[in-house]
Amino acid sequence: MNNALPFHDLSPDTASLVNVRFDGTEYALPEGANLAAALLAAGVTVFRTTPTSQAPRAPYCMMGACYDCLVKIDGTTRQACMTEVRKGLIVERAHTAGGVDENG
Ligand code: FES
Repeated sequence: MNNALPFHDLSPDTASLVNVRFDGTEYALPEGANLAAALLAAGVTVFRTTPTSQAPRAPYCMMGACYDCLVKIDGTTRQACMTEVRKGLIVERAHTAGGVDENG
């Protein structure tokens, strides 16, 4: 592997797994992985619900444009696709139409 590239291997065999809580369930996710991708790979299919009809939403664009991956992380509304997995994250489903909290 060319170490000059800005990519690193996050396969389960090499990445260190850290505990992340999503809506009260603990998941062991690869540290440094994209949070939306890691949760999808772990089987999470609903990241938020819409405020009017409670329709389920899940990541769609994976590049910060659609806001369908909004979650509450440590009490702040963030885009899961723009967040890296870190040890001890506490993530909850968001019940919002869109937008991230300031500094989010
Ligand atoms: S998946 Fe579209 S903004 Fe995150």
